[in-house]
Amino acid sequence: MPESKAFYVTTPIYYVNDAPHIGHAYTTTAGDVLARWHRQRGERVWFLTGTDEHGQKVMRTAEANGMPPQEWADRLVESAWLPVLDTIDASNDDFIRTTQERHTTRVQRFLTDLKDRGEIFEGSYEGPYCVGCEEFKLAGDLLDGEREFNGQKVCPTHGRPVETVSETNWFFRLSAYADRLLAHYEANPLAVQPPSAYNEVVSFLRSGLQDLSISRSTFDWGIPVPWDTAQVVYVWFDALLNYATAVGLDDDPGTPGAEQFAATWPADVHLVGKDILRFHAIIWPAMLMAAELPLPGQVFAHGWLLVGGEKMSKSKLTGIAPSQIVDHFGSDAFRYYFLRAISFGADGSFSWEDMSARYTSELANGLGNLASRAAAMIAKYRDGLLPAPGSYTEPELALQVLLGEVATTADDAMLRLEFSTSIAAMKSFVDAVNLYVTEQAPWVLAKDEANDERLSTVLYTICESLRAMAVLYHAVMPKATESMWEQLGAEAALGTLGSQDVTDVGRWGQLPAGVTITKGMNLFPRLEETAD
Ligand code: ME8
Ligand code: MG
Repeated sequence: MPESKAFYVTTPIYYVNDAPHIGHAYTTTAGDVLARWHRQRGERVWFLTGTDEHGQKVMRTAEANGMPPQEWADRLVESAWLPVLDTIDASNDDFIRTTQERHTTRVQRFLTDLKDRGEIFEGSYEGPYCVGCEEFKLAGDLLDGEREFNGQKVCPTHGRPVETVSETNWFFRLSAYADRLLAHYEANPLAVQPPSAYNEVVSFLRSGLQDLSISRSTFDWGIPVPWDTAQVVYVWFDALLNYATAVGLDDDPGTPGAEQFAATWPADVHLVGKDILRFHAIIWPAMLMAAELPLPGQVFAHGWLLVGGEKMSKSKLTGIAPSQIVDHFGSDAFRYYFLRAISFGADGSFSWEDMSARYTSELANGLGNLASRAAAMIAKYRDGLLPAPGSYTEPELALQVLLGEVATTADDAMLRLEFSTSIAAMKSFVDAVNLYVTEQAPWVLAKDEANDERLSTVLYTICESLRAMAVLYHAVMPKATESMWEQLGAEAALGTLGSQDVTDVGRWGQLPAGVTITKGMNLFPRLEETAD
């Protein structure tokens, strides 16, 4: 029996020309939060990330380091690209490398199929190429060089001169797809997001497309073209296919690969930075159309992390390593900060000051303090056991209504990839509960036994709110919320945190009276206490 199709989300596969910086970790974090959120809606999820290892950019870096490209790629994957997934707590289901056999054989088969379909022809290419982008450029894309590059044309992204390529290559009939792509996007406006990205793609398509050279003959670090092994497949043609080769593209019916493909393809969301939007929203769907395969649901192009107003980049050596931030603030705060502080789709800058300020006010003083106060009060006033609530009054009922609204807003926003809106909704609930604690002042109620039932109601309300916060924040902050779950003694009664359905989080009264609440470690230690 074919399983129901998984929710399939991907990140770009990153070049192994250097170690990851926080820009790469940003995309992977967004993918991870989305994957975890969908899992917690009870959906089957497939989350793919990986590395892009062929092409001139990687080859030249390997050469500059005096190593064969495969050895260089192996080292970088082992020492940097796999470890960063642990650093940021990524829960990817697979990791594809374009040098893996499962990928190269499927790419070759796909190419042969396109050739058999008459989509590939021989031609000659002469024009500018940026090795930084691994992209054939149009004259109109380029800028006039300044200073040391005076008189030369430079790539606007990399700020370096383009090279001139003149080769006899194999071409893909990309130009034939402009109208079909336009019709597809006009019928499916959500297929490219945010709207600025959609508009860019549509206006580019309106200006028409040229056929695309999909092989190179002047170097050999790539997948051989099956019928002309003097050529290697153009690195982007190779790389884009990873999303489909990783899940069994074109395997024989009845094989595990074919089953996985049927249960996974098409991708629901390809997350990319806006630097690689056109590859994903134009070339990739045209390749799929040519092979008569279903198109992805959405390409979402997020903005750039900037340094001094420019895109943080490996080639400009402006990258900050994720571990620099995670070692200081922890992985939860890393994940929280980038999705909370930058509206997904817009550019943003990282600053230690802003991150420290939000860490302290929103995480340590907001959520963390609430959790530790609750545990301390239950210990002091109820010997560590959660009391049953008495009758609810206006302030409790207002919080219950608010939770329902927050849960709906958070879910709607997550499904639209509006991470910051979703997190802001969750935070508004934390703020409301903190205000409730101040206003109800349990420490005052505790002074008079006549208030006993009232005190129980307030304490229960705080802990049940924390139950909901743990569930809501789990996709964003997996570690801290696991600690909360433990402190609440929730697992025995409710099951694992990961199994809590986010669409049911607003139903009040799930945490049963009588559970043991413990004082755990501080969820978000004061920064002075952490060693640098
Ligand atoms: O383009 N801000 O790989 P790449 C935000 N191999 N995100 C950033 C960023 C920044 N400053 N810098 C990088 C490639 N990223 C190809 C992709 S996919 C079939 C092949 C993120 O190593 C962002 O997701 O240059 C961007 O699109 C990606 O890393 C580019 O990584
Ligand atoms: Mg790049």
